[in-house]
Amino acid sequence: YHVDWDLVTAEKAGFDHFMMKEIHEQPKAYRDTMMGRIAEDGKSVQLTELGMTADYIKAIRKIQIVACGTAYHAGLVGKTVIESLARIPVETDVASEYRYRSPIITEDTLVIVVSQSGETADTLAALREAKRNGARVLAITNVVGSSVAREADDVLITSAGPEIAVASTKAYTTQLIAFYLFGLHLAQTLGTKDQAYVAEVLAAMKNLPEQVEQVLEQKTVLRQIADNLSKHNNLFFIGRGVDYAVSQEGSLKLKEISYIHSEAYAAGELKHGTLALIEDGIPVVALITQEELYEKTLSNIKEVKARGAFVFAVVNAGAEVEAAKSVDELFAIPKTLPLLAPAVAVIPLQLISYYASLARGNDVDKPRNLAKSVTVE
Ligand code: G6P
Repeated sequence: YHVDWDLVTAEKAGFDHFMMKEIHEQPKAYRDTMMGRIAEDGKSVQLTELGMTADYIKAIRKIQIVACGTAYHAGLVGKTVIESLARIPVETDVASEYRYRSPIITEDTLVIVVSQSGETADTLAALREAKRNGARVLAITNVVGSSVAREADDVLITSAGPEIAVASTKAYTTQLIAFYLFGLHLAQTLGTKDQAYVAEVLAAMKNLPEQVEQVLEQKTVLRQIADNLSKHNNLFFIGRGVDYAVSQEGSLKLKEISYIHSEAYAAGELKHGTLALIEDGIPVVALITQEELYEKTLSNIKEVKARGAFVFAVVNAGAEVEAAKSVDELFAIPKTLPLLAPAVAVIPLQLISYYASLARGNDVDKPRNLAKSVTVE
């Protein structure tokens, strides 16, 4: 399924920076990553590249997802996806911590390593540790023939194409697509979800590229928001469930390229300490895409608003009118299934980081102190 690339296709193609080009390549990257992996009737996933038998899958007792940086954040979403679709317990670790906590790795543990480059030293070391302990390893990577791809037992290639900007965008979102596909693959093998549900998720996934396009069309609105945020030196991201996972990625993106300090918090956890830092005018970016958690997050928004925070919310289309009563500014994203929302909700956060970096006059594609691929431990 890999798409060939060369240096010519890696040019900026009319965009000022690789990052913006890569943000715009996401609809195509989603399609390419789904291509050939969904049955023609749209009712099932077919991951023919995997060597796992149904018997093997039925014997998996635990999954560990191990990665670094943005790939780790994709793994946080992957945990929720796999647990809710396949009901297999999932642990997530940053690769540099994994080996040193004496993780319990057994033969019925599946270890999933996630790496855009497939060359990150800590991730590779974690993979080797997992294999030494008898676990099967599945790699989700963007580079065919990378070290991680070569050493893993199974490989799911993300077809994002070359990612040049240090801040990862399309690699992250195609890793999400890979987790959705793999989660559905487990579910249909284990029978934890019926065919109608699998078909419903697949149909919603096919709409994601168009929904991302719709967000991209409104990017000028986000530029204004980013210009305001860029005047601050501290801000917070809050969310619950997968919105919390996306908040962590949004916070990392902003730190990486705008150098603005931010923290992501599980919305309900704020009152256990961080609320003390909320003062007049401090921006809080709130994600509220999960309908079930809407009221809960809204009450956390009220907590920060009461202390003078300026709240910018990312909400589902249809919830704008209600949400507008409680927040200062909002951006509506096209609605999808709750589990798939990260693949749409992260786009405005990527754009805000980009514009904030630009507003601060930073080198967007090559932020200080950071490297695209980290091959030292
Ligand atoms: C570096 C990059 C990040 C990336 C991380 C993991 O820190 O700057 O953008 O998420 O490495 O890279 P990988 O290639 O393993 O996904």
